[in-house]
Amino acid sequence: NYYAIIMAGGIGSRFWPISRTSHPKQFIDILGTGKTLIQNTYDRFLKICPAENIFIVTNESYLDLVKTQLPGIADEQVLTEPVMRNTAPCVAYGCYKIESLNPDAIIVVAPSDHLILDENAFVESINKSMKTAEENNCLITLGIKPSRPDTGYGYIQYTDQRLNNDFHKVKTFTEKPTLDIAKTFIQSGDFLWNAGIFVWSAKAIVESFGKHLPDMHDIFADARTVYNGENERSYVGTAYQRCVNISIDYGIMEKAENVYVLPSEFGWSDLGTWASVYQLSEKDYVGNAVIPAEKVIMYDSSNCMVNVPGEKLVVLQGLHDYIVVESNNTLLICPRDQEQNVKQVVADVKQKFGTK
Ligand code: GDD
Ligand code: MG
Repeated sequence: NYYAIIMAGGIGSRFWPISRTSHPKQFIDILGTGKTLIQNTYDRFLKICPAENIFIVTNESYLDLVKTQLPGIADEQVLTEPVMRNTAPCVAYGCYKIESLNPDAIIVVAPSDHLILDENAFVESINKSMKTAEENNCLITLGIKPSRPDTGYGYIQYTDQRLNNDFHKVKTFTEKPTLDIAKTFIQSGDFLWNAGIFVWSAKAIVESFGKHLPDMHDIFADARTVYNGENERSYVGTAYQRCVNISIDYGIMEKAENVYVLPSEFGWSDLGTWASVYQLSEKDYVGNAVIPAEKVIMYDSSNCMVNVPGEKLVVLQGLHDYIVVESNNTLLICPRDQEQNVKQVVADVKQKFGTK
């Protein structure tokens, strides 16, 4: 009865120029491990449910990328969206489709672009959550101990009221707070970051959509007649246009009352920035991280991150604390502490040259 949904339709704009609208972060081997992030995610879920129970929800334009990178996956396991509507419709499509196959399904929903270092701990946390979701009408999310007031995450305030020993009843769920609010959350101590990994029964999540996003519920419930048939793609494609653009965090998690959090530790990082990639990469004794490692020569250079795939020879002389990244005919050279400005570059490039 165990199923997995991998959300793989986002565009990962912070990793420009490696990550682009046409080739986002989840399809990249960002740490130089030999596998892309979505391949690692898929392999992790093979340890949790049968291969035929793993579904990918992605944009139509990434279908070829998904099929090339995950050759083991059948056509009917890749659910495509004609337009980006954020994660609520993505979750609804996956969960309602699975519910039509198996009303007793227990589903884990996860992003496709995160790093998890301790796979055994991850598998244990998910299995425990699946079991709890099977026995209780609740929405489970995995929580990570926060280390800084990052405004890119959801914050979960938990209580001491527990289910199955380890699952804490959630008091408040706040998606992407302002910096001031994030700071007070961190100071108060009883908050966790939302890892963006959710576990629930098909029944529980369908009920929650009915309550909190009733229009979306109607759209995907009406589609029950076409799931797994010839008309699924065209019908759902049209239906998507009618969905509001909202994430599962704002749409359901902030509003639902039956939310529980499992505090978890499995070497999680959402690889949100070059800084986080640098932090996690292997470095030489002067702090240089080079991915991939072949053709780089450095003289008097330290604490740099170089990511230049392919045949090009890279020489660094007297460079300290820089990011040097090449991809898609684009070269980015930027001080490590100014990477947040790259978002603006992406917008400017689009305006000037019409591409991303
Ligand atoms: N299919 C599909 N369609 N997938 C999408 C879409 C979409 O329109 N938009 C995003 N995704 C995918 C992304 O590819 C990613 O794997 C996942 O859904 C999460 O989306 P993000 O856009 O990366 O969300 P976020 O990082 O801003 O916030 C979420 O994750 C944080 C942890 O990393 C939230 O759940 C936060 O609460 C959480 O803290
Ligand atoms: Mg993310």
